[in-house]
Amino acid sequence: MNYKIETIGCQMNVCESDIISEFLQKKGWQDVKDINQADIIILNTCSVRAQAEQKAFSFLGRAEELKQEKTNVKIVVIGCMAQRISQKIKKRFTKIDLIMGTDKTPVEIAAKIEKLSVKNTDDIFTNSGNDKKKKLDGKKIVGYFSIMKGCDNFCSYCVVPFVRGREKSFDDKIIFDKCFNFIENGGKEIMLLGQNVNSYNYNGLNFSGLIKKLASIDGLERIRFMTNHPKDLSDELIETIAAEPKVCKHIHLPMQSACDKILEKMNRKYTYAHYLDLIKKLREKIKNISVTTDIIAGFPGESKKDFDDTIRAVKEIRFGGLYAFRYSPRPDTKAANFDDDISLDEKQERLSAILAEGNEISAQITSEMKGKIYKILTDRYENGFLEGRTTCGRKVLIKGDENNFGKILDVLIKEVKVNALFGEIV
Ligand code: SAH
Ligand code: SF4
Ligand code: F3S
Repeated sequence: MNYKIETIGCQMNVCESDIISEFLQKKGWQDVKDINQADIIILNTCSVRAQAEQKAFSFLGRAEELKQEKTNVKIVVIGCMAQRISQKIKKRFTKIDLIMGTDKTPVEIAAKIEKLSVKNTDDIFTNSGNDKKKKLDGKKIVGYFSIMKGCDNFCSYCVVPFVRGREKSFDDKIIFDKCFNFIENGGKEIMLLGQNVNSYNYNGLNFSGLIKKLASIDGLERIRFMTNHPKDLSDELIETIAAEPKVCKHIHLPMQSACDKILEKMNRKYTYAHYLDLIKKLREKIKNISVTTDIIAGFPGESKKDFDDTIRAVKEIRFGGLYAFRYSPRPDTKAANFDDDISLDEKQERLSAILAEGNEISAQITSEMKGKIYKILTDRYENGFLEGRTTCGRKVLIKGDENNFGKILDVLIKEVKVNALFGEIV
């Protein structure tokens, strides 16, 4: 059987798609990039912004068109939209064979998908020659592990608590065993995932405790984690990031806005002064830490002056990277009842202004890396190029051979381009 899995949304979805993929591959299924080659088309959906849902609808349109011609193709929809509006989706797309929400585990979903399998002997597609690439695939070096599910924060704009349910931390012993096995099998880096990883708590073991426990795994080189909520960033966690050499010196700390009035309306539970104080502490305690952030442009009631506060903060803090979004009202959320009073044009203008400022700063920070040596863990090899990341999360391409795949190398940054750094092994 050939399957195509299309994933929209956050790392959580990427991680769950990977688990499903792995399950199906163990059953001998082949993943294909081209939707036309697939016997089963799986779409993993996101509800966080209207745009993400739009993307899913157009993908499903294409999938149904395909099914019109190849009637034995199966269509599967999973993820946050499947949780939020399964009835609506089924009504609009009548050719869907299976729809399952986030209340089911990826393994439960994969097992159901497997049962859809039909004998389809005509047109069997094999991607021979792909084996070597598979073995060198990044997933083997970097593993994604959810350490919790759901979210209890109810930021007024956010749909996640409604599509992922209440926050629940997973058993640290199970997390440890999964990470241990991954490292035993040649993994080098683990990425711990949760909507709010720094509020992890399992029977009294907090996130710092979990990190320390995992760091004891021999052969594990690097630990990354995302996302963090500023209100839960403790001094203890900052100390742990500083003290533990395996923890990467990068933190994603969504700010959303720098205007206290807006932060309060967003129900973020911190002020800009508190946020700035955290940044100062991080930079004081952890040399060269990279801080990245998320910002929402055009939240209800955001005046030009409120927005300027955010722009000023972006200049003041100088983020290593920044994701910004136009505010998108989401059903069920508290903010959906607020007057969405900023026009689309104005939202777009603010978004562009934030991105221009943020990207310029991030480019300046990156250009300062030229001529310096960084430790890069290579997690991908393709066509004579190794790809890896610095501990602060920057992607670097290096000319080299596959013997250096999965290793930490000293790399001199030779060239800085818009979206990539080029380095040389020293
Ligand atoms: N749990 C994470 C982020 C989840 S969603 C956290 O709290 O940081 C990722 C980002 O999408 C958010 O940080 C926010 O910037 C953006 N986002 C969420 N809901 C949105 C909405 N309704 N409109 C626009 N952006 C939104
Ligand atoms: Fe959404 Fe806020 Fe939870 Fe993040 S912390 S997932 S933004 S409700
Ligand atoms: Fe989207 Fe669901 Fe993640 S709504 S951002 S895929 S938790």
